[in-house]
Amino acid sequence: MNSFLSRTSSWVLALFLALAGPALAQDAASTANVSKAGVAPGGAATASAGAAAAPAAAAPGSGGGDAAAIAAGDALFKNNCAQCHAVNDKVVGPALAGISKRRTISWLIPWVHNSSKVIASGDEYAVKLFNDNGKQQMPAFPQLSDKEITSIIAWVTSQEGGGGGAAATAATGGVTTGNAAAADGADASGGGKYMDVLLIVLVVVLIVLVVTLAIIANLMKDVLQGRKDLDGRDVEILEQRFNWAGLYQSSALRGIVGVVFALVLLYVGVQSVMAVGLTQGYQPTQPIAFSHKIHAGENNINCAYCHTSVYKGKSANIPSANICMNCHSQIKTESPEIKKIYRAIERKQPIQWVRVHNLPDLAYFNHSQHTQVGGIQCQTCHGPIQNMEVVYQYSALTMGWCINCHRETPLNTKGNAYYDNLVKLHDKSNSAVPFTVSSNGGTECSKCHY
Ligand code: HEC
Ligand code: HEC
Ligand code: HEC
Ligand code: HEC
Ligand code: HEC
Ligand code: HEC
Repeated sequence: MNSFLSRTSSWVLALFLALAGPALAQDAASTANVSKAGVAPGGAATASAGAAAAPAAAAPGSGGGDAAAIAAGDALFKNNCAQCHAVNDKVVGPALAGISKRRTISWLIPWVHNSSKVIASGDEYAVKLFNDNGKQQMPAFPQLSDKEITSIIAWVTSQEGGGGGAAATAATGGVTTGNAAAADGADASGGGKYMDVLLIVLVVVLIVLVVTLAIIANLMKDVLQGRKDLDGRDVEILEQRFNWAGLYQSSALRGIVGVVFALVLLYVGVQSVMAVGLTQGYQPTQPIAFSHKIHAGENNINCAYCHTSVYKGKSANIPSANICMNCHSQIKTESPEIKKIYRAIERKQPIQWVRVHNLPDLAYFNHSQHTQVGGIQCQTCHGPIQNMEVVYQYSALTMGWCINCHRETPLNTKGNAYYDNLVKLHDKSNSAVPFTVSSNGGTECSKCHY
């Protein structure tokens, strides 16, 4: 009987290991996938892959223009134009395929610099275009140089549908890598679900095993009890009952249970005390199912298109419904979620977004100091926003979090004349240590509290 039990239990163990092995391996693989996605978020990967594919394929093409200019145009297009234009489809603005045949470059440059000026000048084509597109204003891009606009047009031309073998290869190159990146993302989330299913199956298998073993043990007992040829010792083992009362009275067991219980209580207590006022992971439900994954991820809309003051001011700014209408007066107008935006505008009431990040009033934080001056990416503090369906608070936002980064991060002093003298002074006194935010006084209480 005993050896039968020990044999079956080793079988159970072996079975468990066999099942758990692949599960753990799967876990590791999915973590690897997630971290890959984190480093090169879908959108960025597509953009750079596209840029890399374009020059390689376009180089042998004739009349495709300078490969470097095309690559530059790709990046410029994605950053400035992609939220409203595509090459072969109408988005908010018209499809741009064939633009170099429709219009001359000397018309296009002033148009991109300031389209409303061209319309106001009475240009026939421009006025008709404006009216045909529901009198929508295309934003002005005074910051783009003539050369940059030319390279955007060169890139558009290289992407046009039937525009020659080389161009077509470039386009498909871009598209395939895009799909690969998307599949990668799907893989990562699929991995998580696969793990859950596997764990449930594992638990069910174990329960079934335990029940089966109990039934087998009882059957064996019944069979043995029917036999006459057992000696005294066998009968003793057979009729042995587990001594629950003895176990209950055992002071050793009571001691162990007591200590474990006290440790668990202490752990939970310390955890909840440390978490007072901590809101990391906070993910409220928003009044409209707005997805950063769709907007900032899949459609590559620049963060500052909506969070308009993030490079200029203290606060990043949550966009008003008017900014949504720049696109949603045209896109998905029948969706119930989009109708909520219309309703807010009709009632002249702002959309009641629920605030996610909120420092107490006693602390001062300024976005432009970090994004514009410090050159820190949004994702360093806010996590992979471009993959979030619903925004959650990624960082702890405690004082320790601010200070640790100030201790570790070297100042971004390049091309910033304000720092020239300070860098010299720092290098003179202790050039061995890097010139961090804290060596510039970034951990003094009064920088954040006053
Ligand atoms: C916010 C949306 C938006 C953005 C961003 C945008 N456009 Fe436009 N674009 C439009 C609209 C709308 C039109 C149609 C004309 C109109 O209504 O003023 C248009 C028209 C055009 C046209 C004329 C198309 C034709 O068929 O003649 C060109 C060329 C153009 N845009 C280029 C660009 C470039 C280059 C960029 C990026 C630097 C850009 N646009 C960014 C909305 C936009
Ligand atoms: C199309 C407009 C749009 C774009 C583009 C956009 N956001 Fe947002 N963002 C919003 C809206 C609307 C909210 C408020 C609703 C919510 O929390 O989801 C928001 C909320 C946030 C919040 C939480 C604010 C809070 O309440 O504390 C953060 C952080 C944020 N965005 C960061 C980013 C970053 C980083 C990017 C670029 C990768 C970006 N956003 C791009 C519209 C946009
Ligand atoms: C620059 C253009 C642009 C702006 C600005 C914009 N969106 Fe969008 N939005 C899109 C695109 C593109 C889609 C994807 C449409 C699709 O799936 O076909 C989308 C999809 C959506 C959807 C999903 C609709 C559905 O039913 O599938 C919601 C909700 C939404 N947007 C809300 C907003 C809100 C709220 C704002 C303002 C804070 C906003 N959008 C600003 C371009 C924009
Ligand atoms: C150094 C860390 C850091 C970086 C970098 C950063 N943020 Fe923030 N962000 C914060 C903190 C902290 C808050 C909370 C501010 C508060 O409550 O006063 C916040 C709040 C926000 C909010 C809510 C509205 C507000 O201003 O309070 C939005 C939206 C936002 N950030 C967007 C962005 C975008 C977009 C970028 C990149 C261009 C960015 N952030 C970069 C730390 C950061
Ligand atoms: C990811 C790193 C990082 C985090 C997190 C961070 N900071 Fe900073 N902070 C910087 C850098 C880099 C600078 C220096 C920018 C510059 O002036 O070149 C800076 C500068 C500052 C300054 C100006 C200091 C001076 O010398 O004038 C203040 C104030 C500040 N941060 C407050 C905060 C607060 C409050 C938090 C937390 C809510 C925070 N920071 C979180 C990196 C960070
Ligand atoms: C880089 C910015 C920064 C610096 C420097 C800084 N703090 Fe803070 N401090 C914060 C932030 C942000 C919070 C809010 C944290 C939270 O809500 O968990 C905070 C919270 C506090 C609190 C807690 C208040 C409460 O009600 O919970 C005290 C006390 C405090 N700071 C004192 C100091 C002192 C003293 C110094 C100088 C030795 C200092 N701080 C330096 C950013 C800073």
